[in-house]
Amino acid sequence: MNKLPYSITQIRKFLLERDFPEKIDSAVILGSGLGDFISVIEDSFSIPYSEIPGFPETSVQGHSGDLWTGTVSGRSIIAFSGRFHHYEGHAFPVTVLPVRLAEAFGAEKLIISNAAGSINTEFSVGDLMVIDDIIQPFQSVAAAPSDRFRYNLYPEAARVRKIAAEIGLEVQRGTYIYVTGPNYESKAEIRAFRVLGADVVGMSTVPELVEASRLNLRAAAISLVTNMAAGVLKQKLDHSEVKEAAEARKDDFARLVTALIEKL
Ligand code: HPA
Repeated sequence: MNKLPYSITQIRKFLLERDFPEKIDSAVILGSGLGDFISVIEDSFSIPYSEIPGFPETSVQGHSGDLWTGTVSGRSIIAFSGRFHHYEGHAFPVTVLPVRLAEAFGAEKLIISNAAGSINTEFSVGDLMVIDDIIQPFQSVAAAPSDRFRYNLYPEAARVRKIAAEIGLEVQRGTYIYVTGPNYESKAEIRAFRVLGADVVGMSTVPELVEASRLNLRAAAISLVTNMAAGVLKQKLDHSEVKEAAEARKDDFARLVTALIEKL
């Protein structure tokens, strides 16, 4: 599906009828396996994506596909447990649906998370990494034709690192390279990405950051290293690693997202 069958205004209207708040402070996009964050939301309730008009269903393991609302530190939020990827056949307008909806609810900030493979051999599985910068190879995919030139993409990276430091959380920092998937990379691709300067690789987040920039929405982007990328270690990659790494770091991840909601 490439076009949205319902406008963002219509989707918002539906959610308001289902008691979502008129105005939110922050929106959170939860990456693969990171859905446990919803347990820290107070007074929370959710709607399955399948009940929201115009929402495509997600088909990915580890993504349940529910839209949550409630409060964190007294601030009103929405949280997307499950997102829309290019590899599921979605084009740009669908991959950035959460960002547009966040803006429609008056969000002042957007916190994006993902599971990523580490290209950087100094990183370990389970590391949290503040995304400092992105590489969109050949800028081939995340294009919004109606809005051509964007400057100063993702200026908040330094602030995100500072907030992590303020809560005493050790995080890596680095560059995220975007691939459309669905296959994981070849070893040769990973060697090439290392030469390009990438630290981690993943299949999301970049379209959402580009759209946040277009909408002037303050953004934070966090990767959880769920595996070493292809060829870094001898062992084969497997999706179960995503869940294990996320389970091990869920409390630190929740602490970081909470601090970002409070301070970004
Ligand atoms: N490659 C691409 N996407 C990913 C990976 C990876 O190794 N790990 C988690 N998401």
